[in-house]
Amino acid sequence: MITKTDMRKPVIAVIGLGFVGLTLAIVNSYHGFKTIGIDINQKKIEQLNNGSSYFYEPKLDQLLKKAIHKDKIIFSSNLNLISESDIIFITVGTPPKSNGQIDLNFLKNAINNIGKIINKDSKNRTIVIKSTVVPTTLKHIYSKFRNSKTKIVVNPEFLREGNAINDLENPHIIVIGEEKKNSSKELISYYNKFYQKTPEIILTNFTTAELIKYSNNAFLATKISFINSIASICQNLPNTDVDTIAYAIGKDSRIGSEFLSAGPGFGGSCLPKDLSALINFSDSMGKSNLMFKAVKNVNHDQIDRIFELMKKMKILKKSSKIGILGVAFKKETDDIRESVAIEIVNKLLKKGLEIHVHDPMALQNFKELFVDKIKYFKSAHECISNTDCCLVLTEWPEYKKLKEKDFLKMKQPNVIDSRRILESKMFKKISYKAIGLGI
Ligand code: UGA
Repeated sequence: MITKTDMRKPVIAVIGLGFVGLTLAIVNSYHGFKTIGIDINQKKIEQLNNGSSYFYEPKLDQLLKKAIHKDKIIFSSNLNLISESDIIFITVGTPPKSNGQIDLNFLKNAINNIGKIINKDSKNRTIVIKSTVVPTTLKHIYSKFRNSKTKIVVNPEFLREGNAINDLENPHIIVIGEEKKNSSKELISYYNKFYQKTPEIILTNFTTAELIKYSNNAFLATKISFINSIASICQNLPNTDVDTIAYAIGKDSRIGSEFLSAGPGFGGSCLPKDLSALINFSDSMGKSNLMFKAVKNVNHDQIDRIFELMKKMKILKKSSKIGILGVAFKKETDDIRESVAIEIVNKLLKKGLEIHVHDPMALQNFKELFVDKIKYFKSAHECISNTDCCLVLTEWPEYKKLKEKDFLKMKQPNVIDSRRILESKMFKKISYKAIGLGI
């Protein structure tokens, strides 16, 4: 009898080693699949072959070292290596353009170049598009492979930065879009070998699969803007606490408790980009989407809520120094893309204030952006000492440990906690304000 482990494992190629592609490549090889990771950036390839990732993702470096040791993975810039592969995952970026549309150039180039290589042989292959693309994108690109033996499917991913390995190992669902019947046979067989117990697979067409990805992120963004709207009411209503409200409504299974943490607004490379792309896509159909526009506006307004609190504290003066704790768009990442910290710092600099920043992981990325316009600190204590206001923007666990005595080293002990992570009940001598608390 052939067992699951006896079945021949397909050779996997992953094109585009960003956060999704690299996580996928490393975890794949860790599961015993021979994996070829391809990226055009030679510097990244060199670093990866030396056993270290070029961005921070918990546990990824350890897994990378183990994968290299097992000799199941190679990283290269040479696309020709894909001729060895059975399944090719395309995970190249689809970055935002200034009008909200996504830039498909990386994807189109990858597909063209892959086509040139694999159309030469007669091997049965599956190309899996994991890059996030607006509905109908694949229908247009599909024609490139229509006459070859190549199967092409859409397979959106739902990995969160900071939790990517866990999300890959334990997905809530697998979504596959195919245009020709049975195109996803090899991909499903691969998933059956990858997972001990394969998660539920939703098999649909290209366009529905593409729209599922956008719907997922748009819903998450909507939940956050919803709770941030409640937080704004709380902020103006004494003795109210948005977290108690979120806990109570989250207990209703129709609502669910996740993604109800009010904060400075969602950032990152996905939710803002996907929401803008969906708005743009709806507009292009002549169906302006009022809800998603409102979600985006509410998100942007959260920055004003923070400035309202600073105004109340009377610290928006040229002579003021602000200590910002956390510049990554969320904890457990060094990613600052679309982080609210960027706009807040720009606004404060325009007003002439002195800015101090700390982040356990993202400081170097922030330094590359702001260079010598602000001051960078290796510890949270140093960052806030002698400042007029401490602004907590990212929910890093180490900030939770800060005590009243730490804030009393400030010039003026004003604290704005945009994530409500500090133990404010213990504060007696501090002026404490927070997003979503009516105090
Ligand atoms: C998001 C989705 O959660 C993933 O499912 C998806 O695969 C990914 O985008 C993608 O499209 O690739 P990610 O951008 O890594 O993942 O981050 P999230 O955990 O969704 O957080 C996004 C932002 O929302 C962060 O700024 C976070 O602080 C904020 N947030 C999140 C809140 O303000 N409140 C919450 O309750 C949750």
